[in-house]
Order: sequence, then structure tokens, then C-alpha cells
Amino acid sequence: MSNKNFLEDFPVLHADANGERLIYLDSAATTQKPTQVIESIENYYKTNNANPHRGAYKLSIDATKAYDDARKKVRDFIDAEFSKEIIFTKNATEGFNLLSSSYGMSNINEGDEIVISIAEHHSNLIPWQLVARAKKAILKYMYVNEDGEITKDEIKNKITPKTKLVSITHVSNALGTINPVKNIIDYAHSMGAKVIVDGAQSIPHMKVSVRDLDADFLVFSAHKLLGSMGLGVVYGKKELLQNMPPYIVGGDMIEYVYEQETTYAELPAKFEGGTQNVEGAVALGAAIDYLNEIGMDKISEIEHELIVYALEKLNALPYVKVYGPKNIDHRSGVISFDIEGVHPHDVASVFDSHNVAIRSGNHCAQPLMRFMDINATCRASFYLYNTKEDVDKLIEAIEKTYTMFSKWR
Ligand SMILES: Cc1ncc(COP(=O)(O)O)c(C=O)c1O
Repeated sequence: MSNKNFLEDFPVLHADANGERLIYLDSAATTQKPTQVIESIENYYKTNNANPHRGAYKLSIDATKAYDDARKKVRDFIDAEFSKEIIFTKNATEGFNLLSSSYGMSNINEGDEIVISIAEHHSNLIPWQLVARAKKAILKYMYVNEDGEITKDEIKNKITPKTKLVSITHVSNALGTINPVKNIIDYAHSMGAKVIVDGAQSIPHMKVSVRDLDADFLVFSAHKLLGSMGLGVVYGKKELLQNMPPYIVGGDMIEYVYEQETTYAELPAKFEGGTQNVEGAVALGAAIDYLNEIGMDKISEIEHELIVYALEKLNALPYVKVYGPKNIDHRSGVISFDIEGVHPHDVASVFDSHNVAIRSGNHCAQPLMRFMDINATCRASFYLYNTKEDVDKLIEAIEKTYTMFSKWR
């Protein structure tokens, strides 16, 4: 599959009747979907749809199998040991809410410290503010240096024997920095703390093994990995999940319900109250099959080649400022930048008229923007369906935008 033009598989990216195609550079927000994933959803509804775990008839058994098979694919994809360590949620955000409400509220006590980084997405930040407030705990931040990286000293200064929990993004959605999560996990464990990894921007782009990392928990969203919206994943070590109280309660997550008390189902059902997004799980399974066929190392390689090419061109433009690591090996396929004298929102609007889709704003990372003393950036993010031609179109759009705004300078 190595020479395949992946664009073919993504209908929304095909050229129109005039030969124009969308240059989609916003995969950090959500990825486009290949035909294989789109068809898996249609096929599920045509052949397997029923409420899983609820019926004794064949169709419900088929739906249960489809749901369980997807869970096994996720287990293998992130190299977890047991299927029951994979919990399906609505998205990564709900995953962090599950962990903060269930693990956080029952394991964090007065005076304990929770450590996160200043570059966290709001979904891995606000939940910990709530736990810290409710439990009279302290929320501490690891700050980034001028390259958007967390240094070894910062890790050692902030994670101490008082730290009970570290929750850290593997890859920053705002700067593209790949954080040294393995080192952070090892150090946090040596201090007796548990670690949650936000894999929203890493799982789709690189090979990740929760066992190699020794992550206690890991969270990600299916829609950033070629899957559909409305499905997230929480991985947790079995012993930790078993000892946590449920988060969403109601049907399906119970064993026995009495008038005043309830006993809960075994993992993973304990954390999956109510009718689940089986269609989303099936689509995620198809997305994983698609990515596995290409190989995660190959995907990282494609993205690396693209950012090497893009950074060389961006750095050659004196009016463009690029944020994030100078060391390209510490970067994933997210590039945050500014065009001198043009507000990022204007940049994104003008780019749209050139059929180039990028993101502008604070990228759900307001504390990071405040820390860096900026309001917003432009963000181009890449995935396997992007090409060097897309980078050329991006550069062309930057040049045109700069020239256009030079009149007002
Ligand atoms: C690093 C990171 N974490 C968490 C999230 C939240 O994902 P979702 O909106 O799918 O819940 C995002 C989404 O952009 C993200 O980039």
C-alpha cells in the first residue's frame, strides 16, 4: 500500500467538476473519513443493527459481536492486555470527565497535588480544576519553554511525593509538541503518582503501546482517527478500573437493582450505562483496520516528511512566525503559525477563499495562549491524505494573504 495515493479513499477530498479540491489542513480538529469507514456504518445498519447485550435473538447477538469485536481491535491497536480495559465513551472530553469524577473524586484528598501541563486542551484541564476545588487539592502546572517543550527540570520541579495524579497530553494540539510521556510516567511512578495520557493527538498518528508506556489511563476520540463523531475511548489498567465507582448510571451497567441499592456489572459494562454508540464502535474498528493496513510507522513517516517540507518553506518566509519545537523530532503533524500583521481569523477566512481549510483561534488552550502572551494562532494539521502539493497550496495562500493585507500596513 506504500505508493497508494490515499486521497482516492476520501470522497470529500476528491476534485470537483472544475478540478478543484479542498486542501484540508484541519485534521487535529477532526479527520476526514475513508470510504471503507463510511461503508462500514452503512453495512452495520443494513445487516447487524439491534441493541447489543439486550436481545436473545440473532440480530442482537450480531450487534453484540460487532461491538465486542471493535473493542478487541482497540485493545490490540493500543496494545492493552484485556478488552475489559477499553471503555467506550462519547468522546475524549467525556473520558476525562469519567476519570476526574470517578478516579479523581475518590482518590484525591485534601492537600494532594494534581499535575498537568499549561498546554492541556480544556478537556484535560477544567475537570481537574473541579476535582481540586471539591477536594481542597492543589492543581499544579508544568510550563513549557520558548520552544513549547516541557524540560526535565520542570518535570522534576513539579512532580513530587505530594503528587497523586499527573494528566498530560502526549501531543499538544496547539503547538504540535510531542511530550516525553514515557519519562513523565516513569518519574511520576517513582513518586507514587498515577498518570493519565491524553492520546487525542497521538493515537491517530503514531504507534502507541499503553504497556510500553506503562500508562495508567489513556484517553482519545475516534473522530480524530478516521472514525465517526460521538465515540471516545478510555483505557485504564484493570485493577484501577475495577476499584473505581461508576460514572454514568442506569441501564446496562448493573448486576442487580434493589429498591435502595444496586450492584454493578463487571468491566467494561460498569462504565457504559445506557444504549451505546455501536455504529461508532464499528466505524472505529474499520478505521483501525484501514490504518493497520498502511501501518502506523508509515503514517508517522508520511506526516514527518510533510512537516519537514512545510517547515522549510514556512521558515523561509520572514513574515511568518512558527511556534513549537525547533527540534523536528519533537514535533507531530501540527504546525501553529502567525502571519505578521494579519489576525489568525482573517487568515483562516482568506485561506477559505483559496479552498485551504486551517484552524485559527486558541485551540481550546486559553491558559497556554495567555502564558505565551498571544491571543490566537493559525494551525495547519496534517494526516496521511495530505500531500506536498497541499503544502505548496498553503504557502501560496500565505503569500497571497500577506500581500493582500500589505495595503493596510
Ligand atoms: C489534545 C486534545 N485533547 C482532547 C481533545 C478533546 O477531544 P473531543 O473534542 O473529541 O472530546 C482534543 C480535541 O481537539 C485534543 O486536541
